[in-house]
Amino acid sequence: MATILAIETSCDETAVAIVKNRQVLSSIVSSQIELHQIYGGVVPELASRQHLEIINPCIDRAISEADLTWQNIDAIAVTCTPGLVGALLVGMAAAKTLAMIHNKPFLGVHHLEGHIYASYLAQPELQPPFLCLLVSGGHTSSIYVKDYGEYKLLGSTRDDAAGEAFDKVARLMDLGYPGGPIIDRLAQQGNPLAFPLPEGRISLSEGGYHPYDYSFSGIKTAVLRLVEQLQEEVDLPVADVAASFQYTVAKVLTKRSVKCALDYGLDTITIGGGVAANSGLRKHLQQAAEKHNLKIYFPPLKFCTDNAAMIACAAAQHFNLGHTSSLDLEVRSRMPIDRVMELYK
Ligand code: KG4
Ligand code: ZN
Repeated sequence: MATILAIETSCDETAVAIVKNRQVLSSIVSSQIELHQIYGGVVPELASRQHLEIINPCIDRAISEADLTWQNIDAIAVTCTPGLVGALLVGMAAAKTLAMIHNKPFLGVHHLEGHIYASYLAQPELQPPFLCLLVSGGHTSSIYVKDYGEYKLLGSTRDDAAGEAFDKVARLMDLGYPGGPIIDRLAQQGNPLAFPLPEGRISLSEGGYHPYDYSFSGIKTAVLRLVEQLQEEVDLPVADVAASFQYTVAKVLTKRSVKCALDYGLDTITIGGGVAANSGLRKHLQQAAEKHNLKIYFPPLKFCTDNAAMIACAAAQHFNLGHTSSLDLEVRSRMPIDRVMELYK
């Protein structure tokens, strides 16, 4: 039963958590949304500086809320890839320092593996294999979780991430940032069939379409054209546009994820990332799961959006399997999910 303290600073949340295997003892998340809101997106340099300012108080709070001392911690973990390099470096320096001064084993964790572990936190009896759909502001990936530490990326976006598309569509209608929750709220009052939008399919050179990959920039451009055209004629029917956009995105994500699961003989789909909060996506996935007799797990939102509990949970599994990282491990802006085992000795 490993007790892990983990740090997550890959983007705009400063997070520290303590987890015992799949049980959360404390989880501190300090969001920087307000800091970046006026710029309409995350400003990397501001993110790093803010992480630096609040990382130490977050560590202290995680320890005190878990009511533990350093003696009770078995290892220190940190998100080391993918993410904003300057932001990752703050967490990395803090984690390595803690590992050195308290003489604890150290583990680097892949951020996307962390997102997958949100499902284990929410459903402690969950075992691989299953399909995990990760939909956040930075990622849209359908990942085949074959076994612990063994992943295959089946589908991903060729351009914008799903959350990014929500944010851009909200911006082009002047609705505010982050756009996902605003569009979600508006969509509930609109007609999802008001405006047909393209699904964003990826053509293959040999003909036909990629069965699992996503493209959201075409949908976003179609919404832009639609908004320009409507604005010339009428007051913009914002709720109908939001509902049509959300319906199209939810339909595409559901269709391709279900295809992945069925093609690979998987009976379970889990979901992670901020877009997992989307009511339209949840409804579509639920309906499809019932139709195809699949199990579907939606972790609570606090584990879907960036947090350190998911990182600690992934590290606990690795630690229990005897994996640790070298203190020479470096941050990386990118790394494919199927190479996570390279992070361990
Ligand atoms: O996972 P997350 O908190 O941060 C990373 O990007 O790593 O995801 C944030 C994204 C934003 O693009 C936000 O607009 C989107 O998740 N989001 C939503 C909803 N809540 C957050 N998108 C659609 N519907 C929502 N209810
Ligand atoms: Zn994330």
